[in-house]
Amino acid sequence: MKQSDPIVARRAPKGFGPEANRDSLCQPRGGFESPRGASSHPDGGGRTKVRRLVLLSRKGGTGKTTLAVNLAVAAERAGLSVAMADLDLQGSASAWGRARRSETLEIAPANGGTLFPLANAFEREGRQLLVMDTPAGGDAITPSAIATADLAVLVARPGYFDLAALAPAVQAVKAAGKPGVIVLNQAPSRRGGVESPVIARAIDAARQLGLPIAPVGLRARVAFQESLWRGQGVMEFEPRGPAAAEIARLWQDVAERLFGAAATPAEDRRTA
Ligand SMILES: Nc1ncnc2c1ncn2[C@@H]1O[C@H](COP(=O)(O)OP(=O)(O)OP(=O)(O)O)[C@@H](O)[C@H]1O
Ligand SMILES: [Mg+2]
Repeated sequence: MKQSDPIVARRAPKGFGPEANRDSLCQPRGGFESPRGASSHPDGGGRTKVRRLVLLSRKGGTGKTTLAVNLAVAAERAGLSVAMADLDLQGSASAWGRARRSETLEIAPANGGTLFPLANAFEREGRQLLVMDTPAGGDAITPSAIATADLAVLVARPGYFDLAALAPAVQAVKAAGKPGVIVLNQAPSRRGGVESPVIARAIDAARQLGLPIAPVGLRARVAFQESLWRGQGVMEFEPRGPAAAEIARLWQDVAERLFGAAATPAEDRRTA
């Protein structure tokens, strides 16, 4: 693979090749097979543990909510029972949920005091994944969300200010002893087939923070915005589009981190 795709070039997921989507930061693979086996790991007493995913960034507007709802949709499409906790008083995830009117995906408002009991209640309901959307800054709330989480997804645009603001969030995740992964979002498209230098710089900066970088970055794509108006994820809005391929690949990576190796990539016929 050539230098035109630095995320992949350096992390080289299996099977990536120049035939991949030309404007993707990843190898668009199929989708994700339901990690039912992994998700039904009982914690001793037979109760299924709800895996808890938190989306974080101190900087506003990086795409926490966009990723939160899209990962929730991807997880549902993979067959998981999913709930969301909206820890942001802006209520963006809740607003999307009202547009969605889903009978399956519950989105509950929460704060630092209610999050833990809420997560337990979802676990008693048999939910398999809880996606926690947090506010920017969020000093009062974010520590509870990190403490509750099994995995933190730290979201940054590939710009100087976002990367600078990532360091304290990484520190908070590390200090809590939680695993985390950095996702670059809203990356510019290649121009004339050439990757913007901001991407390589962002990857280098993110590397120095000492958390893994997801093997897919998300481009700035209209589908990510349009889909929100309909209460959809991009996998529903444009199943064959590049945004859907990016989310499928990101979900695959996140699911492997949350559920382990049993969560293996496979053809997702719903997106094929
Ligand atoms: N990959 C993308 N491509 C295009 N637009 C995007 C992408 N990701 C997010 N956006 C848009 O950027 C804006 C900010 O996204 P979002 O609200 O998800 O960020 P946030 O981090 O949750 O913001 P806040 O800190 O205010 O909660 C939204 O208008 C969203 O539609
Ligand atoms: Mg938000």
